[in-house]
Amino acid sequence: MNFQNILLEEKGSVAIVTINRPDKLNALNAVLISELETVFSYLGEKEDIRAVILTGSGEKAFVAGADISEINSLDMISGKEFAEKGQAVFSLIENLNKPVIAAVNGFALGGGCELALACHFRIASENAKFGLPEVNLGIIPGYGGTQRLPRVIGTGKATEYILTGYYIDADEAMKTGLVNHVFPLNDLLPKALEIAVKIAAKPHHAVRLALKAISASNDLGLHKGLSFEAGLFALACGTDDFKEGTSAFLEKRKPNFKHK
Ligand code: COA
Repeated sequence: MNFQNILLEEKGSVAIVTINRPDKLNALNAVLISELETVFSYLGEKEDIRAVILTGSGEKAFVAGADISEINSLDMISGKEFAEKGQAVFSLIENLNKPVIAAVNGFALGGGCELALACHFRIASENAKFGLPEVNLGIIPGYGGTQRLPRVIGTGKATEYILTGYYIDADEAMKTGLVNHVFPLNDLLPKALEIAVKIAAKPHHAVRLALKAISASNDLGLHKGLSFEAGLFALACGTDDFKEGTSAFLEKRKPNFKHK
């Protein structure tokens, strides 16, 4: 696949998507948003890809936000379209049938922070900086930041970050639970790959069903969520890999999963 601003590498069962516009700190323009839609639609269909890593090119930025030169001309009508288009693409990532790990290698600001939040979890390099500085531009986050940040770090902290627009470093991101791990920059991709490969080897149906159940927890209350979980648990009980995993444990051998 040929993209203007995205690099796609498939390493066995793991795909690495790199946002590649380093001269603009990987800022998200309309081309990039539509390329993200294309690449994640493709990866969603690709059965042999079991996990995805999303990162930015260069050593400075994951994504430094939506492209301010493009948003500068938005009005009330095009602004709504702009937000809805980005939200739809980010929801595609969030609802992908395989895990997407954000490997945040520098600035993750505005739309970049929102993009990382749409991934299933985040790891970061020591130089990473996160923030939702939209208020400084007279706007608010429009790619899901006001909805996903409070869910990840809690309403109080998210409100402070969104209203002040300040940047938090990797240590603070770690303390707030925004990222799961922090690594030296050179170790970030190898570590992301290590985690992705580990997940990719797990029974595929179990991973898919777990992702579905976790993502439903945002929309369903506890009662409905538990009922949804029980339904998905039942589906997992119908797979060959469930029989294999439990039998292997009882027979004290390594499981041989067939992803069926
Ligand atoms: N949109 C468009 N272009 C951007 C951008 C963005 N969000 N972020 C960075 N760039 C461009 C700069 O305009 C510059 O382009 P130029 O070389 O053609 O002038 C290039 O990327 C490098 O950025 P620069 O500002 O020179 O780097 P820096 O190291 O001095 O500062 C940042 C880095 C991230 C602090 C700074 O670029 C910044 O504040 N960016 C905007 C962050 C933001 O508000 N994001 C939310 C948008 S909704």
